[in-house]
Amino acid sequence: MGFIHPHSGTKIEEIAEGIHRISTPIPPEIIPDGFTYNQFLIDDEQPLLYHTGLRRMFPLVRDAVAAVVPLERLRWISFSHWEADECGSLNEFLEAAPNAEPLCGELMRDLSADDVADRAARGMADGEELKLGQHTVRWLATPHVPHGWECGHLFETTTRTLFCGDLFTQKGHEQPAITKDDLLEPSEAMRERFDYYAHSRDTGALLEKLARTEPALLACMHGSSWRGDGADLLRRLAARLDQHDSGRGAF
Ligand SMILES: [Fe+2]
Ligand SMILES: [Fe+2]
Repeated sequence: MGFIHPHSGTKIEEIAEGIHRISTPIPPEIIPDGFTYNQFLIDDEQPLLYHTGLRRMFPLVRDAVAAVVPLERLRWISFSHWEADECGSLNEFLEAAPNAEPLCGELMRDLSADDVADRAARGMADGEELKLGQHTVRWLATPHVPHGWECGHLFETTTRTLFCGDLFTQKGHEQPAITKDDLLEPSEAMRERFDYYAHSRDTGALLEKLARTEPALLACMHGSSWRGDGADLLRRLAARLDQHDSGRGAF
């Protein structure tokens, strides 16, 4: 594990073959209970960065990426949905990495990326795959799950890693990079406190679509990554949300 910035505490760690987790802890003095912002770098013939981090975090994430892959080699900058922590420094990265292009869902390309980004985005259809070299990524469109019409998640087929964005968000700033401990209750505590999910009619079906990829590793944007039976965990989340929404409907 490498410490890139001793003051920010930004760390980089390989969590699966060729997949590096960049994590910046935010202490409780800044965000109550502490928090983390995580990005993931797939090191391959066509290196891919998933999430850029907030615009003001750009120097931290840039230096972490460059510790693994020279910025000139970075080929794709991808993200789940259009928010500052997912893609706030997209244009800074496009400037620093001259061979990189945004990679996102077709809807995100049409709604935001092709207007805001300084270079044209490659939009992926639902289920479309892209070979990076040893790794292959598949785009799974999940409108409004957990939030954002343009939202989707990326699945890497060889390591069975689901980059699950804001799903399973956990509080805290000192967690391990990977855990096998229960993820449902800590992330449900966050969801119940902040209600950051859209209340979409298709949530159950879209979580089932993610479950069918049978992920072995969930790469969470906030909190530890999780190793285990990802399909089971996603189905338990779907059941919990269903229960929550039926309870709501009763009043
Ligand atoms: Fe988000
Ligand atoms: Fe996020």
